[in-house]
Amino acid sequence: MSFDTTTLDFELGQSPLRAEHERLLRTALRRGPAPEDLDPTIAVESYEPRALDAARRVWRQRMVNEHHSATVFSAMLPQMVACGAALPFKTALLRMAMDELRHGALCARVVESLGGEPSVQVSLRTAPLPEHPGCTPLETALRNAMFVGCLAETVAVAFTAEERERTEEPFVKAVITQISADESLHARFGWAFAREAAPHLDADAMRRTNGWLRTAFRYLEREEMREVPDVRPPSDALRDEGLRLGVCENPATRELFYETVHEAILPGLDALGFDAHRAWRERHALPSAA
Ligand SMILES: [Fe+2]
Ligand SMILES: [Fe+2]
Repeated sequence: MSFDTTTLDFELGQSPLRAEHERLLRTALRRGPAPEDLDPTIAVESYEPRALDAARRVWRQRMVNEHHSATVFSAMLPQMVACGAALPFKTALLRMAMDELRHGALCARVVESLGGEPSVQVSLRTAPLPEHPGCTPLETALRNAMFVGCLAETVAVAFTAEERERTEEPFVKAVITQISADESLHARFGWAFAREAAPHLDADAMRRTNGWLRTAFRYLEREEMREVPDVRPPSDALRDEGLRLGVCENPATRELFYETVHEAILPGLDALGFDAHRAWRERHALPSAA
């Protein structure tokens, strides 16, 4: 192990914890076949070099994003503790952090099967979670759980379901299927916490949360659009090869984002007593606050 702070990889090393890690993957974190039982072969010879290049780029970026999500979930634990959340929210949160590490490692295996190097040069420093000064511990925990679960992971569920549908390469499909099953738990975590917490907000806290939602929506939209820039693949053939390898088609994914916001996120939050439709409409109305 090099303790290099600028390279992300998913090497297991040779410490005695390796066996415990592997046991966790086979037991607590298991979703379908164990990773070592999946055949990682991808028929790379049947793809154009440009399609393979694009797929390696996308899967390498996913490796980074998934790994980063693990730090978000683990940083949320002290906030769940501070607001007095029930134990299942804390255990689920730590499971979710482990899921994301596992997702990163699965994405690295896809990169490798695509003929790429399963490591990336990236700073491993992480930013702290938003603290939301002036909010109660419950509001703080709720905002972060809502952003991650009801917004970001709910979008991730829609995206991975679509990718799984379009992917034809068996190993890639198996990986997306496992990731997708976990993302649905991650979204449910946010919705379950919001359902428990919302009735405990007084009128002021509800007003503050609705105001914060504008910022949250603006940020979500900007980040998701950055991930899928509005560019079309150079040809239909390349688009189809990309889809077979789990690479989404950007314009369609952008539409899917807005569909998910309007059909799942806004009605779901409104049903919990928030004024989400209004917050969405007014997401550009104010300068950044929270
Ligand atoms: Fe993930
Ligand atoms: Fe996730």
